Amino acid sequence: MHCPERYIKNNGIQQKAAKDTLTAYIEKMAWTSNEIVLDVGCGPGDVTSDILYPFLKNNIKQLIGVDKSVEMVEYAKTFFGCSEMDFKVLDIEDANNCGSSYSLRFNKIFSFFCFHWIHDKVGALLNMHLMLKSGGEILIDFLLINPLVELYKFMDEEWQKYIKEIKQMSKDSFSQDELRGMFIKAGFRIINMESNVKTYTFPDYSSFLNCVRAIDDMYTNLPKHLHDRYATHVKDKMREKQVIEICPITGETIFKYLPIIVHAIKD
Ligand SMILES: C[S@@+](CC[C@H](N)C(=O)[O-])C[C@H]1O[C@@H](n2cnc3c(N)ncnc32)[C@H](O)[C@@H]1O
Repeated sequence: MHCPERYIKNNGIQQKAAKDTLTAYIEKMAWTSNEIVLDVGCGPGDVTSDILYPFLKNNIKQLIGVDKSVEMVEYAKTFFGCSEMDFKVLDIEDANNCGSSYSLRFNKIFSFFCFHWIHDKVGALLNMHLMLKSGGEILIDFLLINPLVELYKFMDEEWQKYIKEIKQMSKDSFSQDELRGMFIKAGFRIINMESNVKTYTFPDYSSFLNCVRAIDDMYTNLPKHLHDRYATHVKDKMREKQVIEICPITGETIFKYLPIIVHAIKD
């Protein structure tokens, strides 16, 4: 997930998810004026700028997007940085940087399609809690099951050695109750937590594969000459595991996924 150009061309599903979540939740949050807002895992900044910002613009003084990827933040700064919107490199698992730079700074924290990539979830939540002002709210939208991590588990032996931290990642799925416990342990009061299966229709199979490729870190580990063979393997596994349904007439590719949305408050 280090190539902003590739990501931004293939993130229709992420854009739609953020828009739907904000439409459902923005009015459930308590707003004042001149708020300072954080977007964790902002990626290349298009969701922050084109989707999140329009929902907030009447109530905020500043919107800051943070991401641990330097490439993503450089891209976001170049294309979307302005007086009300800034982008910074920050690993949300890094307690020292979160505390020293942003302690008690934000009225709201949002995060879209990022939290399923975070290993130390309680640590990240403790950092968000520290960065929020008292009475501040968080809205976190992520995947209860990370389809890429699931896919990695089923890959043939040949590819396993390239799957960085695969053993760690395989343990990264949690039940709703376990996640609820993590938010509470970090000090939050949960206002609402919901998880329902959703679908997203790609115009064709290659658009779906492009979306997978934009987030698949395997391509950073794999030698270039293996990329095409790996892409074919991904395609075979996706078909075998029925991650998607392809319409035989139109070629439209329907992807089923399981997001979870958590709205919580720091009392
Ligand atoms: C799938 S992208 C989502 C980008 C954007 N929020 C969107 O909805 O399109 C996930 C982003 O989370 C970032 N990320 C993953 N772990 C992170 C961490 N520990 N701290 C900050 N950012 C992280 C990745 O670098 C990546 O840019």
